[in-house]
Amino acid sequence: MSVHNEVRKVTTHRLSEMKLRDEKISMLTAYDYSMAQLVDEAGIDVILVGDSASNVMAGHTTTLPITLNEMIYHGASVVRAVNRALVVVDLPFGTYQGNSREALNSAIRIMKETAADAVKLEGGEEVLESVKRILSAGIPIMGHLGLMPQSIHKFGTYSVRAKEEAEAEKLINDAKLLEDAGCFALVLEKIPADLGKKVAEELKIPVIGIGAGGGVDGQVLVLHDMLGITQQFSPRFLRRYHNLAAEIKGSVGNYINDVKSKDFPNDKEQY
Ligand code: KIV
Repeated sequence: MSVHNEVRKVTTHRLSEMKLRDEKISMLTAYDYSMAQLVDEAGIDVILVGDSASNVMAGHTTTLPITLNEMIYHGASVVRAVNRALVVVDLPFGTYQGNSREALNSAIRIMKETAADAVKLEGGEEVLESVKRILSAGIPIMGHLGLMPQSIHKFGTYSVRAKEEAEAEKLINDAKLLEDAGCFALVLEKIPADLGKKVAEELKIPVIGIGAGGGVDGQVLVLHDMLGITQQFSPRFLRRYHNLAAEIKGSVGNYINDVKSKDFPNDKEQY
């Protein structure tokens, strides 16, 4: 159990204070009530109801298919479990790009129907109009730059982004646009560590990295990856804290054996 188990709710304001006093921000994904409860009780600062639920929960190969209704289902399940962490819900692909009115409606649905604290969306300049419109309704936004899984078909690979100068410059410019517009935090995914550090130093808002090095203001991982439930995914940035896949399969195997051998249930396990 972490020592960070006070129940005072984490707010966007508290995240900025953490950046100011150089306290690193911890963030993990969760998509359901039971896991969110454990993660919150362990003292995490931010829970992201990521659209990675599309892969992890639904078995899709990309994040694109997950719908707004599905994200709302996951978001509401997580919010019901959480007392302390700030809960951020991803706006799924196709619900905010290109039409700022639709973006606002999507964000309002998430806030009303999940009671989450904020939304996250991918992109910079291209989605700025949507960002401004959502923010104008008082909905906090976490940006997301670098590797943006919703644009996978544009890039074709999940390789490290912004290694070239032009792409790095665009990323820095986008990060500043998002900050100036009023986003409260920014996720940077899979970019060189030097660039992650530079962006974190140049922005006042907290920058949370996944594969963006140690120079940013916090770290995020997908819960099922760091617990070793998912097996297929092993990027360099992923630290596995457990091999839950082996533990779960072992326990299920023991249960199957006990049922087949008629050991379960025993006399004490029945009425
Ligand atoms: O959907 C997600 O899990 C994310 C994280 C990888 C940051 O966006």
